[in-house]
Amino acid sequence: MITSLSINNFRGIKTGKIEGFADINIIIGANGAGKSTILEAIYAASAWAESIDNIRRQNKFDVIAYRRTERGGWNESRSFLWYSMNTGQNIEFTLSFSSGKTMNFIIPYTIRGMLASADMNKMIFLGKNQHYVSPEGYVIDERNNVIMRGSPVEILDFFKEEIEFLRDCTLIDKMLYTRMNFIEESVWPRVFAKRLDKIVINLIREAYEPDAELISYISTGLGKHSLTVGLSQTAVRVDDLGDGARTSMALALILSTMNHTVALIEDPEIHQHPTGLEKILSFIIDVAQLNKIQIFITTQSIDILRFLIMINPANCKIFTLRRRNGAIQSRQFTLDEVESLLESRIDIRRIIEELQI
Ligand SMILES: Nc1ncnc2c1ncn2[C@@H]1O[C@H](COP(=O)(O)OP(=O)(O)OP(=O)(O)O)[C@@H](O)[C@H]1O
Ligand SMILES: [Mg+2]
Repeated sequence: MITSLSINNFRGIKTGKIEGFADINIIIGANGAGKSTILEAIYAASAWAESIDNIRRQNKFDVIAYRRTERGGWNESRSFLWYSMNTGQNIEFTLSFSSGKTMNFIIPYTIRGMLASADMNKMIFLGKNQHYVSPEGYVIDERNNVIMRGSPVEILDFFKEEIEFLRDCTLIDKMLYTRMNFIEESVWPRVFAKRLDKIVINLIREAYEPDAELISYISTGLGKHSLTVGLSQTAVRVDDLGDGARTSMALALILSTMNHTVALIEDPEIHQHPTGLEKILSFIIDVAQLNKIQIFITTQSIDILRFLIMINPANCKIFTLRRRNGAIQSRQFTLDEVESLLESRIDIRRIIEELQI
């Protein structure tokens, strides 16, 4: 389990540290507070353990570079990921784990002595004993020169469990919710092999489509296939479900195949009626406990806090975030503390202010 995270020089965060992570972490804060940046930092760090996104089948750095606007990947637009585009300084992440170990990653903008066309996964380096090593064994010095090529075995051994934990780290964002094709190709075979579709269809029935009976992957003509929800009288392509149902189905399918890793869930309240939101939240919490997934959820929604108080999961913390001149300030609350705050105030803005100050 990740217990703390420091970020330097990444997107809107010049410097920031958040400590005391739990199994379930809710990150709340105003627009631009840096919530999504926290998720991206963990996701980027996981690129050392596995450079290719398990679901999108794309390089994780490319995903980070273009996920908002699809305006270009790592090679074309990575400079926007450096704080104030200050590409002279390395991006740096530090992750501590419940094992007591601390992983320190750096991402230089360029690496001297390597071809410009170097693979993206050679751009992230994990440090130990003053040495920074890429997954392929490139070692760099502090001026970002490649000084030799060796074997990263020492680091692989030392951080074996942590690397394993980060490997399947998944960023579940708005873009992924709309890409059912990724889910059909990468996730559905794994879901069906374990018949996890049964728990997903239960969720869809309870929250969205009362007469949903099954999910199947069927031909929709002209050689095309689509995930389809069978209702009692007819069948509906997943693409044609309501936005709330489709989003929840994507989230549920992805999470049900994850195991012993980190799920980064961005703003799950999007498209959700309160009933849907409550059901998908309890699904997330159940599957997280069952599959030992550490969860980070960013949100703007006070409803999420209310539902969490009702569900009352073990080991859950709320983190509020503020960003001033690139520095992150965060405070943490237990669900009990948030509950007494919600009881004592009527005005939601006041609650958010009190959570943040
Ligand atoms: N390269 C950069 N240098 C400086 N600031 C940046 C850079 N990239 C993004 N920012 C700032 O970071 C903020 C965006 O951070 P982030 O996306 O993490 O916010 P958020 O808390 O997720 O917000 P929202 O709730 O709107 O999704 C914006 O204020 C933006 O101006
Ligand atoms: Mg965001």
